[in-house]
Amino acid sequence: MAQERTLSIIKPDAVAKNAVGDIISRFEKAGLQVVACKMVSLSQEKAEGFYAEHRERPFFNDLVSFMTSGPVVVQVLEGDNAIAKNRELMGATDPKKAEAGTIRADFASSIDANAVHGSDAPESAQREVAYFFSDEEICPRG
Ligand code: PPS
Repeated sequence: MAQERTLSIIKPDAVAKNAVGDIISRFEKAGLQVVACKMVSLSQEKAEGFYAEHRERPFFNDLVSFMTSGPVVVQVLEGDNAIAKNRELMGATDPKKAEAGTIRADFASSIDANAVHGSDAPESAQREVAYFFSDEEICPRG
């Protein structure tokens, strides 16, 4: 299996619920390593840039407003098949459709406040990791 990196964001709703440790623990128990991590309050500009591909979607303003409503924890996860593994751990975007035992089933309350973000493909993972972290901020364990 391919060693990959993916970008994970623990969103404001999950940070407000004090679920940061529980969520990171799920990544680690599944064999993913946290190789970079920081808590940040996103500016409107930073959030709009991150979600630029969704600019025309009807929910864009709500999404940006939610993502700037409180601090988020941004991480780079590394491991075998990290992109797919993270998305499996996250569950479906809409928590009502998320499988039992997934992060969104357990911590998310709605499609807009859905606890976590994870890159969806190698290209987006590369772009999203670079959007938040410089090379020096990423600490592979080898
Ligand atoms: S798509 O079509 O697969 O790209 O869309 P999707 O991955 O489902 O959603 C992209 C991001 O938009 C968020 N989203 C919403 N926010 C607010 N309101 C509504 N209705 C809504 N629907 C989707 C969704 O949580 C995704 O955010 P990220 O951070 O990428 O998980």
